[in-house]
Amino acid sequence: MGFAVRVRAPSNIALIKYMGKSDPELNIPSNPSLSLTLNSLCTWTELEQIQDGGEFRLEWNGAARMEDVELLPFDLREKDRPKIERHFKRVFQFFGHSFSGHWRVRSGNTFPAGAGIASSASGFSALTLAIAAALGRDRSAQAELPQLSRQGSGSSCRSFQGPWVLWQGENATKLSTNFDSLSDIVFLIEKSEKTVGSTEAHLRVKSSPLWEKRNERVSFRIQELQGCLLMGNWSGFSQLVWEEAMDMHELFHTSSPSFSYWTPLTREILGWLESEGVRSGKVRAAVTLDAGPNVHLLIPQCDQRYWLDKIKARYPELELLVDQEGPGAQVVWHAEGLK
Ligand code: DP6
Repeated sequence: MGFAVRVRAPSNIALIKYMGKSDPELNIPSNPSLSLTLNSLCTWTELEQIQDGGEFRLEWNGAARMEDVELLPFDLREKDRPKIERHFKRVFQFFGHSFSGHWRVRSGNTFPAGAGIASSASGFSALTLAIAAALGRDRSAQAELPQLSRQGSGSSCRSFQGPWVLWQGENATKLSTNFDSLSDIVFLIEKSEKTVGSTEAHLRVKSSPLWEKRNERVSFRIQELQGCLLMGNWSGFSQLVWEEAMDMHELFHTSSPSFSYWTPLTREILGWLESEGVRSGKVRAAVTLDAGPNVHLLIPQCDQRYWLDKIKARYPELELLVDQEGPGAQVVWHAEGLK
């Protein structure tokens, strides 16, 4: 007996950031975070059981296409293999399945690695859902999947639902809002791999003098932001989102040793967007950055054309990624009896 499943899971962009862990083993965050789930910027993963039982064996291949979607093959680097195998073990154990069998994965992303899109968020949520689906538990254990995935990579727990998700302690829950449906335009400033990975960043920020009061600032902002989402208050939303992104990057800039993801172009684009009123909330647009140099512009979907024309006129050479909010990870198909 063998079976195969195919899933797709989107990335998400945090507006209140997960930065710093209170429990690094379980990826319990030091503070709550709030994110927007994306749609087509995602990971596609296919998982096939080649043999039931026997010593655990994992074959991993990058995939360049699935369901007519062009993908950038997501290959497993040897240094990441132990983390992935631990995740298989964790999910198997949770479902009472022994850590055994011969498994084949094919996986690809719709976005380039290092594009300022969290590939660990989409990658781990896709893998968690694929394993659960292969064990026939994706529906019955829907509530547990974010928690399991979080232990592989924290931010992945926010990719199972959408569009708005609040992650606090062990739980990620969908938020009700009355806000515009959003698009995310990513200014692709740098595609190369980050010098400081986010796992290292989570540790280092605790050395910043700004760390001590970080929780107070986040508590205030997250309350206010939820209010803005309920009231449709763009002005407050833009100001809070800007402040929070700068707060996280200030932690990087003031930690010891300090580090920065910004390039001169990051600063230039931030300056331009600020002059366009994005920071002060004069326009319906908000800016954030992940742990990287690339700038995300969040706007109502109905303004997407206007902003794309404006950005292309100003930065004709710059590559952009464009996506919209989405509902979260899903099983695309599930086939039993394959071999
Ligand atoms: C800057 O989820 O990648 O994107 O739990 O160590 O895998 P690990 O970290 P990860 O951290 C993401 C941090 C961030 C902010 C955010 O997404 O909230």
